[in-house]
Amino acid sequence: MNDTTEANEIQRLLTEGRAGEPDTIPDPPRRGTVTAQIEEIFYESFLRYFKNAEQKRRWNIERDIPWDKTNPETSETTALIVESFTAVEMFLPDYTHRIMQLIRRSRGRAWFQANWGYEESKHSLVLEEWLIRSGKRTEDQVRDFEESLLGAEWQLPFETARQMMIYTMIQEMATALNYTNLRRRASDEGDEALARTLTWVSSDESAHYNFFRKGVKAYLMLEPEETIADIKYVFECFAMPAHALIPGWEERALAIEGAGIYGPKMYLSKIRRPVLEDLGISRTQLKEAGLPGQEAEEAADHADQRAADERTAAFARRFSLPAGVAPLSPPHRRRVLSVP
Ligand SMILES: [Fe+2]
Ligand SMILES: [Fe+2]
Repeated sequence: MNDTTEANEIQRLLTEGRAGEPDTIPDPPRRGTVTAQIEEIFYESFLRYFKNAEQKRRWNIERDIPWDKTNPETSETTALIVESFTAVEMFLPDYTHRIMQLIRRSRGRAWFQANWGYEESKHSLVLEEWLIRSGKRTEDQVRDFEESLLGAEWQLPFETARQMMIYTMIQEMATALNYTNLRRRASDEGDEALARTLTWVSSDESAHYNFFRKGVKAYLMLEPEETIADIKYVFECFAMPAHALIPGWEERALAIEGAGIYGPKMYLSKIRRPVLEDLGISRTQLKEAGLPGQEAEEAADHADQRAADERTAAFARRFSLPAGVAPLSPPHRRRVLSVP
């Protein structure tokens, strides 16, 4: 994939999850502690997220995947990558309960977490379903693999609620990119069932990214210095979840990187800069958040250009006539004027 196509794809993933929602964070209440104001924004954000999810993003494993269009010729590498991503999704009990314990006093985050758990639970189910229906794995093989995973437990990689908000924002964007790259591979191999599956899954991940992004923006608005310091720290220590817990991950990671789906080097170039740019922070903050000087300058220029384009488009929408509107002069008047 060339650089422009990939940049467009990343841009689509960044923004897709906020389709139908205004890209602004709710206003904080004028009174109350910073914590109370942040909580208010989280809850309001969750309500918007949930409404949008219920109206536009629900999908059904049985009904919405063309299961008769799996391709028996799909490669073993693709099957291995699907199985590996299923393994990451299988630590759901730890993700939900450990994060829930950390944020249980936040109504917005806790209710989001419950909904997130439901959406994530479908991801391992649907990927396993594809492994079995495509004939790449038997039911027994899937069960045995599952058994081999559940002995280990995932632990929180960061200690505070703010750092975990930042971590999950980055991780959801990386996951969305993983699934989008794998979807392209599935399409190239002619497996429509897998391609459709991955379209649904990556759109969930993109929506998750956007909820967490709005949370980080709320923190940035009300606790800017602490949040920038945390962003720098989390980016520096970032690793995708659960890899250390999955048997034979090194081999799987090589297959994933070899297929151009995801790798540690891609993380810096494809995830860090677009995510930082998408937060809409200042030039100085981009540098303080750890983006190297030249990259920070480019990211800030790009963000400025995008904001200017959006302003121009908004201006044009306000002052141009909608398509299909009748001309200003009525036809009979034009007729009169055209009499020689
Ligand atoms: Fe997922
Ligand atoms: Fe997700």
